[in-house]
Amino acid sequence: GWYHLYRQKSEENDMSFKDSKVVIVGCGNVGSTIAYTILNQGLCEEIVLIDRNEDKAYAEALDMTHAVYFMNRNIVIRSGTYEDCRNADLVVVTASAPMAKDAHDRLEMLAPSMNIMKSITESVMEAGFNGVFLIVSNPVDIMSYYVWKLSGLPRNQVIGSGTTLDSARLCAELSGLYDLDPKSVEAFICGEHGDSEVILWDSATIGGKAVTAVMEDNAERTKEVTKDALHDRVINLGWEVFNRKGNTCYGIAAAACAIIKSVLFNENRIYPVSVLLDGEYGQENVFLSVPVILDKTGAREIVEIDLSDEERRKLEKSGEIMKSFQDELHL
Ligand code: LAC
Repeated sequence: GWYHLYRQKSEENDMSFKDSKVVIVGCGNVGSTIAYTILNQGLCEEIVLIDRNEDKAYAEALDMTHAVYFMNRNIVIRSGTYEDCRNADLVVVTASAPMAKDAHDRLEMLAPSMNIMKSITESVMEAGFNGVFLIVSNPVDIMSYYVWKLSGLPRNQVIGSGTTLDSARLCAELSGLYDLDPKSVEAFICGEHGDSEVILWDSATIGGKAVTAVMEDNAERTKEVTKDALHDRVINLGWEVFNRKGNTCYGIAAAACAIIKSVLFNENRIYPVSVLLDGEYGQENVFLSVPVILDKTGAREIVEIDLSDEERRKLEKSGEIMKSFQDELHL
């Protein structure tokens, strides 16, 4: 039908008019919301959706095609095949096994999702992909390590969305306390995207002032909100959403799109994303989130900020936990 003609046309023109192309593997809530957020923000010229359920990918793409009229720029969005990864700038992976309703740890997702991730990585690489992989599927640090190993790509080309979202959640909580724009808070969470994550309190600032000092100087606003309470709350926020609506999608999609934008627009922005550490922060052969400069090559450079002894100890612990799960991949 018409849609078929349209697809043929865009494939013929593949190299001539597409400057930036993003392939999204997995069209559940997260994958579809990432596609819609890219569309809304006008981040690339072509979005291709892949899902095991081809009807779902086709329908999501068609639905979004009807939104293009109202967007700021024209973007082609269509369903496709792994062949589309050949000349993609970015491949975003959100696919996983369905998450149990009573789940309470992202690491539970490893065993059921391993084979899915393996076959996706192999299919993407067989197509001749040589762009940047953005892994969103949980457990994201372990999955990123798996994709890096299986793909054989240099480490700058494999990024996990990591704690970009957790850091935004922390900034949201702090800005809520003091009635501020969350972007006026700069606070990084590093380590696992999960229970062992580490808040870097010592380098966290609000308007250039240390968060610790802001909390002390505004005791009446801070009230019973301690650092420990904030830490527990931020870890719990994903579950706070998941337990009520069965998924999280807007936060993670916006976080993924911030990373996508920094790569496609060569922005050189710094976000805490999951990357392979090779000596940085005293860690080796493990994917953990740390602040990374993101440009068109992917993870251009790891920023090594000074950690307190306690922060370093906690990051080490997080690394040990991630390594024990990496071992389960039997690579
Ligand atoms: C969350 C999922 C993406 O934290 O892990 O919302």
